[in-house]
Amino acid sequence: MSARFPTLLASHRQIPAIGLGTYQVDDAAVQALVCQALTLGYRHIDTAEGYHNEAGVGRALSAYFKQGLTPREDIFITSKLWSGNANWGQVPKTYDASLAAFESSLDKLQLDYLDLYLIHAPFKTQDNIAQWRALSHLKKTGRVRFIGVSNFNQSHIESLIKAGLPKPDVNQIELHPWCQKPELVAYLMANKILPMAYSSLVALANWRTEPQLESAKNVQMMQLSQDPNSVIQGLAAKHQVSQAQLLLRWALELGYAVIPKSLQPNHLAENLELFHFKLDDETMTELGKLEMGEGVSWPNGDPSK
Ligand SMILES: NC(=O)c1ccc[n+]([C@@H]2O[C@H](COP(=O)([O-])OP(=O)(O)OC[C@H]3O[C@@H](n4cnc5c(N)ncnc54)[C@H](OP(=O)(O)O)[C@@H]3O)[C@@H](O)[C@H]2O)c1
Repeated sequence: MSARFPTLLASHRQIPAIGLGTYQVDDAAVQALVCQALTLGYRHIDTAEGYHNEAGVGRALSAYFKQGLTPREDIFITSKLWSGNANWGQVPKTYDASLAAFESSLDKLQLDYLDLYLIHAPFKTQDNIAQWRALSHLKKTGRVRFIGVSNFNQSHIESLIKAGLPKPDVNQIELHPWCQKPELVAYLMANKILPMAYSSLVALANWRTEPQLESAKNVQMMQLSQDPNSVIQGLAAKHQVSQAQLLLRWALELGYAVIPKSLQPNHLAENLELFHFKLDDETMTELGKLEMGEGVSWPNGDPSK
Protein backbone atom coordinates (compact mmCIF):
# COMPACT_ATOMS: atom_id res chain seq x y z
CA MET A 1 0.00 0.00 0.00
CA SER A 2 1.39 3.39 -0.98
CA ALA A 3 3.01 5.42 1.81
CA ARG A 4 1.08 8.44 0.55
CA PHE A 5 -2.15 6.99 1.90
CA PRO A 6 -1.19 5.66 5.33
CA THR A 7 -3.19 2.99 7.07
CA LEU A 8 -4.50 3.27 10.58
CA LEU A 9 -3.26 0.74 13.05
CA ALA A 10 -5.78 -0.28 15.65
CA SER A 11 -4.34 -3.14 17.71
CA HIS A 12 -2.28 -4.40 14.77
CA ARG A 13 -5.12 -4.25 12.29
CA GLN A 14 -4.57 -2.33 9.10
CA ILE A 15 -7.48 -0.35 7.79
CA PRO A 16 -6.98 2.54 5.33
CA ALA A 17 -7.35 5.93 6.94
CA ILE A 18 -9.31 7.36 3.99
CA GLY A 19 -12.08 5.68 2.03
CA LEU A 20 -14.74 6.63 -0.49
CA GLY A 21 -18.35 6.88 0.74
CA THR A 22 -21.04 5.81 -1.75
CA TYR A 23 -24.33 6.53 0.04
CA GLN A 24 -27.01 7.85 -2.33
CA VAL A 25 -24.90 7.23 -5.43
CA ASP A 26 -27.08 5.08 -7.65
CA ASP A 27 -25.95 1.83 -9.19
CA ALA A 28 -25.38 3.34 -12.64
CA ALA A 29 -23.32 6.31 -11.40
CA VAL A 30 -21.29 4.45 -8.79
CA GLN A 31 -19.34 2.40 -11.33
CA ALA A 32 -17.65 5.45 -12.89
CA LEU A 33 -17.18 7.07 -9.48
CA VAL A 34 -15.40 4.04 -8.00
CA CYS A 35 -13.19 3.65 -11.11
CA GLN A 36 -12.22 7.31 -10.85
CA ALA A 37 -11.53 7.06 -7.11
CA LEU A 38 -9.37 3.92 -7.47
CA THR A 39 -7.38 5.60 -10.23
CA LEU A 40 -6.84 8.64 -7.99
CA GLY A 41 -5.48 6.39 -5.24
CA TYR A 42 -8.45 5.57 -2.99
CA ARG A 43 -7.84 2.17 -1.41
CA HIS A 44 -11.05 1.78 0.58
CA ILE A 45 -14.61 1.75 -0.80
CA ASP A 46 -17.59 1.87 1.59
CA THR A 47 -20.89 0.46 0.34
CA ALA A 48 -23.91 -1.31 1.86
CA GLU A 49 -26.76 -3.66 1.01
CA GLY A 50 -29.05 -0.72 1.81
CA TYR A 51 -27.38 1.59 -0.76
CA HIS A 52 -28.52 -0.68 -3.63
CA ASN A 53 -25.28 0.01 -5.48
CA GLU A 54 -23.11 -3.02 -4.65
CA ALA A 55 -23.48 -4.36 -8.21
CA GLY A 56 -22.12 -1.10 -9.67
CA VAL A 57 -19.23 -1.13 -7.18
CA GLY A 58 -18.60 -4.73 -8.23
CA ARG A 59 -18.47 -3.82 -11.93
CA ALA A 60 -15.93 -1.09 -11.16
CA LEU A 61 -13.78 -3.41 -9.05
CA SER A 62 -13.86 -6.15 -11.65
CA ALA A 63 -12.79 -3.74 -14.41
CA TYR A 64 -10.08 -2.26 -12.18
CA PHE A 65 -8.61 -5.63 -11.16
CA LYS A 66 -8.56 -6.72 -14.85
CA GLN A 67 -6.07 -3.91 -15.52
CA GLY A 68 -3.65 -5.81 -13.26
CA LEU A 69 -2.19 -2.67 -11.68
CA THR A 70 -3.29 -3.31 -8.09
CA PRO A 71 -3.80 -6.67 -6.43
CA ARG A 72 -7.08 -7.45 -4.63
CA GLU A 73 -5.32 -7.47 -1.24
CA ASP A 74 -4.38 -3.79 -1.61
CA ILE A 75 -8.01 -2.66 -1.89
CA PHE A 76 -10.18 -2.60 1.23
CA ILE A 77 -13.90 -3.17 0.67
CA THR A 78 -16.57 -2.55 3.29
CA SER A 79 -20.22 -3.51 3.02
CA LYS A 80 -23.06 -3.57 5.53
CA LEU A 81 -25.84 -5.94 6.45
CA TRP A 82 -29.22 -4.20 6.47
CA SER A 83 -30.49 -5.44 9.83
CA GLY A 84 -34.21 -4.95 9.13
CA ASN A 85 -36.43 -2.82 11.36
CA ALA A 86 -39.82 -4.27 12.38
CA ASN A 87 -41.02 -0.72 13.24
CA TRP A 88 -40.58 0.20 9.57
CA GLY A 89 -42.49 -2.89 8.42
CA GLN A 90 -39.31 -4.83 7.63
CA VAL A 91 -38.43 -8.36 8.66
CA PRO A 92 -35.36 -8.35 10.95
CA LYS A 93 -32.64 -10.64 9.59
CA THR A 94 -32.12 -13.96 11.34
CA TYR A 95 -28.74 -15.73 11.59
CA ASP A 96 -29.39 -17.64 8.35
CA ALA A 97 -30.78 -14.59 6.54
CA SER A 98 -27.65 -12.64 7.56
CA LEU A 99 -25.37 -15.31 6.07
CA ALA A 100 -27.47 -15.31 2.90
CA ALA A 101 -27.33 -11.49 2.67
CA PHE A 102 -23.54 -11.63 2.98
CA GLU A 103 -23.31 -14.10 0.08
CA SER A 104 -25.59 -11.90 -1.99
CA SER A 105 -23.44 -8.82 -1.29
CA LEU A 106 -20.27 -10.72 -2.16
CA ASP A 107 -21.88 -11.94 -5.40
CA LYS A 108 -22.87 -8.42 -6.43
CA LEU A 109 -19.42 -7.10 -5.53
CA GLN A 110 -17.82 -9.94 -7.59
CA LEU A 111 -15.51 -10.75 -4.69
CA ASP A 112 -14.63 -13.91 -2.81
CA TYR A 113 -14.07 -12.21 0.55
CA LEU A 114 -14.85 -8.86 2.16
CA ASP A 115 -12.41 -6.77 4.18
CA LEU A 116 -15.02 -5.36 6.55
CA TYR A 117 -18.66 -6.29 7.10
CA LEU A 118 -20.84 -4.22 9.42
CA ILE A 119 -24.29 -4.46 10.96
CA HIS A 120 -25.72 -1.22 9.54
CA ALA A 121 -27.77 -0.15 12.57
CA PRO A 122 -28.96 -1.49 15.91
CA PHE A 123 -32.66 -2.25 16.13
CA LYS A 124 -33.80 -5.06 18.50
CA THR A 125 -31.14 -6.55 20.81
CA GLN A 126 -32.09 -10.18 20.13
CA ASP A 127 -31.81 -9.53 16.37
CA ASN A 128 -28.46 -7.74 16.79
CA ILE A 129 -27.14 -10.79 18.63
CA ALA A 130 -28.30 -13.28 15.98
CA GLN A 131 -26.79 -11.08 13.25
CA TRP A 132 -23.55 -10.62 15.17
CA ARG A 133 -23.30 -14.38 15.65
CA ALA A 134 -23.50 -14.71 11.85
CA LEU A 135 -20.81 -12.06 11.28
CA SER A 136 -18.56 -13.75 13.87
CA HIS A 137 -18.98 -17.02 11.97
CA LEU A 138 -18.02 -15.28 8.71
CA LYS A 139 -14.85 -13.93 10.31
CA LYS A 140 -13.96 -17.26 11.89
CA THR A 141 -14.32 -19.02 8.55
CA GLY A 142 -12.23 -16.42 6.68
CA ARG A 143 -15.01 -14.96 4.51
CA VAL A 144 -14.37 -11.50 5.94
CA ARG A 145 -11.20 -10.05 7.49
CA PHE A 146 -12.81 -7.65 9.98
CA ILE A 147 -16.31 -7.34 11.36
CA GLY A 148 -17.98 -4.41 12.96
CA VAL A 149 -21.09 -2.46 13.70
CA SER A 150 -22.46 0.91 12.71
CA ASN A 151 -24.52 3.36 14.74
CA PHE A 152 -24.10 1.23 17.88
CA ASN A 153 -23.71 2.89 21.26
CA GLN A 154 -21.93 1.41 24.27
CA SER A 155 -24.95 -0.54 25.53
CA HIS A 156 -25.59 -2.05 22.09
CA ILE A 157 -21.96 -3.27 21.98
CA GLU A 158 -22.08 -4.51 25.58
CA SER A 159 -25.11 -6.66 24.74
CA LEU A 160 -23.04 -8.48 22.08
CA ILE A 161 -20.19 -9.06 24.51
CA LYS A 162 -22.58 -10.25 27.25
CA ALA A 163 -23.89 -12.85 24.76
CA GLY A 164 -20.35 -14.31 24.75
CA LEU A 165 -19.50 -12.99 21.29
CA PRO A 166 -16.31 -11.19 20.19
CA LYS A 167 -15.92 -7.42 20.29
CA PRO A 168 -16.38 -5.55 16.99
CA ASP A 169 -13.25 -4.38 15.17
CA VAL A 170 -14.94 -1.15 14.01
CA ASN A 171 -17.92 1.07 14.85
CA GLN A 172 -18.92 3.34 11.95
CA ILE A 173 -20.69 6.37 13.43
CA GLU A 174 -21.46 9.99 12.65
CA LEU A 175 -18.53 12.05 13.94
CA HIS A 176 -17.53 15.63 13.15
CA PRO A 177 -16.87 18.76 15.24
CA TRP A 178 -20.63 19.33 15.68
CA CYS A 179 -21.20 15.72 16.84
CA GLN A 180 -18.23 14.40 18.82
CA LYS A 181 -19.75 11.61 20.98
CA PRO A 182 -16.90 11.87 23.54
CA GLU A 183 -18.13 9.11 25.88
CA LEU A 184 -18.77 6.62 23.10
CA VAL A 185 -15.42 7.40 21.47
CA ALA A 186 -13.59 6.96 24.81
CA TYR A 187 -15.30 3.57 25.22
CA LEU A 188 -14.36 2.51 21.67
CA MET A 189 -10.74 3.58 22.11
CA ALA A 190 -10.46 1.83 25.50
CA ASN A 191 -11.76 -1.34 23.86
CA LYS A 192 -9.60 -1.03 20.72
CA ILE A 193 -12.66 -0.67 18.47
CA LEU A 194 -11.77 1.63 15.59
CA PRO A 195 -14.14 4.61 15.17
CA MET A 196 -14.88 5.10 11.47
CA ALA A 197 -16.37 8.57 10.97
CA TYR A 198 -19.23 9.12 8.54
CA SER A 199 -20.81 12.39 7.39
CA SER A 200 -17.57 14.20 8.32
CA LEU A 201 -18.59 17.11 6.08
CA VAL A 202 -21.97 18.02 7.62
CA ALA A 203 -20.65 21.51 8.49
CA LEU A 204 -20.05 22.42 4.81
CA ALA A 205 -22.59 24.75 3.15
CA ASN A 206 -22.93 22.33 0.22
CA TRP A 207 -23.36 19.12 2.27
CA ARG A 208 -26.31 17.21 0.74
CA THR A 209 -27.86 20.26 -0.89
CA GLU A 210 -29.74 18.17 -3.45
CA PRO A 211 -33.47 18.27 -2.44
CA GLN A 212 -33.86 14.48 -2.47
CA LEU A 213 -31.01 14.01 0.05
CA GLU A 214 -32.77 14.25 3.39
CA SER A 215 -31.16 14.79 6.78
CA ALA A 216 -31.88 16.31 10.19
CA LYS A 217 -29.54 19.27 9.56
CA ASN A 218 -31.52 22.23 10.92
CA VAL A 219 -31.86 25.88 9.87
CA GLN A 220 -29.39 27.09 12.52
CA MET A 221 -26.79 24.62 11.19
CA MET A 222 -27.48 25.70 7.59
CA GLN A 223 -26.88 29.33 8.55
CA LEU A 224 -23.69 28.45 10.43
CA SER A 225 -22.43 26.49 7.39
CA GLN A 226 -22.88 29.59 5.24
CA ASP A 227 -21.20 32.04 7.66
CA PRO A 228 -18.01 33.33 5.96
CA ASN A 229 -16.64 34.19 9.43
CA SER A 230 -17.30 30.80 11.03
CA VAL A 231 -14.68 29.17 13.28
CA ILE A 232 -14.26 26.35 10.74
CA GLN A 233 -13.72 28.81 7.89
CA GLY A 234 -11.17 30.75 9.99
CA LEU A 235 -9.23 27.63 10.98
CA ALA A 236 -9.19 26.35 7.40
CA ALA A 237 -7.71 29.69 6.30
CA LYS A 238 -5.13 29.54 9.11
CA HIS A 239 -3.91 26.14 7.87
CA GLN A 240 -4.27 27.13 4.20
CA VAL A 241 -6.52 24.18 3.45
CA SER A 242 -10.15 23.82 2.44
CA GLN A 243 -12.87 23.43 5.06
CA ALA A 244 -13.35 19.83 3.89
CA GLN A 245 -9.66 19.06 4.45
CA LEU A 246 -9.79 20.65 7.91
CA LEU A 247 -12.83 18.55 8.89
CA LEU A 248 -11.29 15.32 7.58
CA ARG A 249 -7.91 16.00 9.19
CA TRP A 250 -9.68 16.67 12.53
CA ALA A 251 -10.93 13.08 12.40
CA LEU A 252 -7.51 11.67 11.46
CA GLU A 253 -5.84 13.62 14.31
CA LEU A 254 -8.20 11.83 16.70
CA GLY A 255 -7.40 8.40 15.23
CA TYR A 256 -10.62 7.87 13.26
CA ALA A 257 -10.87 6.49 9.72
CA VAL A 258 -12.86 8.69 7.29
CA ILE A 259 -15.03 7.85 4.25
CA PRO A 260 -15.94 11.14 2.52
CA LYS A 261 -18.22 11.01 -0.48
CA SER A 262 -17.97 13.32 -3.48
CA LEU A 263 -19.15 13.27 -7.07
CA GLN A 264 -16.67 15.99 -8.10
CA PRO A 265 -13.22 14.96 -9.34
CA ASN A 266 -11.52 17.99 -7.72
CA HIS A 267 -13.16 17.22 -4.36
CA LEU A 268 -12.24 13.53 -4.61
CA ALA A 269 -8.60 14.51 -5.12
CA GLU A 270 -8.65 17.16 -2.40
CA ASN A 271 -10.09 14.72 0.15
CA LEU A 272 -7.02 12.50 -0.25
CA GLU A 273 -4.62 15.40 0.34
CA LEU A 274 -4.63 15.31 4.13
CA PHE A 275 -1.03 14.51 4.97
CA HIS A 276 0.86 17.68 4.05
CA PHE A 277 -0.42 19.53 7.14
CA LYS A 278 -1.26 18.89 10.79
CA LEU A 279 -3.69 20.56 13.15
CA ASP A 280 -2.00 22.11 16.19
CA ASP A 281 -3.37 21.87 19.74
CA GLU A 282 -4.94 25.31 19.51
CA THR A 283 -6.92 24.33 16.40
CA MET A 284 -8.03 21.03 17.92
CA THR A 285 -9.17 22.88 21.07
CA GLU A 286 -11.17 25.38 19.00
CA LEU A 287 -12.81 22.58 16.99
CA GLY A 288 -13.49 20.69 20.23
CA LYS A 289 -15.67 23.59 21.41
CA LEU A 290 -18.10 23.27 18.46
CA GLU A 291 -20.11 20.31 19.80
CA MET A 292 -23.84 20.66 19.01
CA GLY A 293 -25.19 17.26 20.11
CA GLU A 294 -26.66 14.35 18.19
CA GLY A 295 -25.88 13.39 14.62
CA VAL A 296 -27.99 14.74 11.76
CA SER A 297 -27.17 12.42 8.88
CA TRP A 298 -30.25 10.21 9.35
CA PRO A 299 -33.45 12.27 8.80
CA ASN A 300 -35.19 10.60 11.74
CA GLY A 301 -32.38 11.29 14.22
CA ASP A 302 -29.08 9.71 15.25
CA PRO A 303 -29.64 5.92 15.30
CA SER A 304 -26.97 5.42 17.99
CA LYS A 305 -29.32 7.23 20.41
N1 LIG B 1 -23.36 3.81 8.47
C1 LIG B 1 -24.23 4.79 8.28
O1 LIG B 1 -25.34 4.82 8.85
C2 LIG B 1 -23.85 5.91 7.36
C3 LIG B 1 -24.63 7.09 7.32
C4 LIG B 1 -24.23 8.11 6.45
C5 LIG B 1 -23.09 7.96 5.68
N2 LIG B 1 -22.37 6.80 5.71
C6 LIG B 1 -21.19 6.58 4.85
O2 LIG B 1 -20.35 7.73 4.96
C7 LIG B 1 -20.17 8.31 3.66
C8 LIG B 1 -19.96 9.83 3.77
O3 LIG B 1 -21.05 10.46 4.42
P1 LIG B 1 -22.10 11.37 3.62
O4 LIG B 1 -22.47 10.69 2.35
O5 LIG B 1 -23.11 11.78 4.59
O6 LIG B 1 -21.32 12.65 3.18
P2 LIG B 1 -19.97 13.47 3.47
O7 LIG B 1 -18.81 12.73 2.94
O8 LIG B 1 -19.96 13.93 4.88
O9 LIG B 1 -20.28 14.74 2.57
C9 LIG B 1 -20.64 14.65 1.22
C10 LIG B 1 -21.04 16.03 0.76
O10 LIG B 1 -19.92 16.92 0.86
C11 LIG B 1 -19.58 17.44 -0.41
N3 LIG B 1 -18.10 17.39 -0.52
C12 LIG B 1 -17.31 16.30 -0.48
N4 LIG B 1 -16.01 16.65 -0.55
C13 LIG B 1 -15.98 18.00 -0.65
C14 LIG B 1 -14.94 18.94 -0.78
N5 LIG B 1 -13.65 18.60 -0.79
N6 LIG B 1 -15.28 20.26 -0.88
C15 LIG B 1 -16.58 20.64 -0.85
N7 LIG B 1 -17.61 19.78 -0.74
C16 LIG B 1 -17.31 18.46 -0.64
C17 LIG B 1 -20.24 16.54 -1.43
O11 LIG B 1 -20.61 17.27 -2.56
P3 LIG B 1 -19.85 17.07 -3.98
O12 LIG B 1 -20.34 15.76 -4.52
O13 LIG B 1 -20.32 18.24 -4.75
O14 LIG B 1 -18.38 17.08 -3.71
C18 LIG B 1 -21.49 16.07 -0.68
O15 LIG B 1 -22.53 17.01 -0.76
C19 LIG B 1 -21.44 7.88 2.93
O16 LIG B 1 -21.35 8.08 1.54
C20 LIG B 1 -21.56 6.45 3.37
O17 LIG B 1 -20.65 5.63 2.67
C21 LIG B 1 -22.73 5.79 6.57
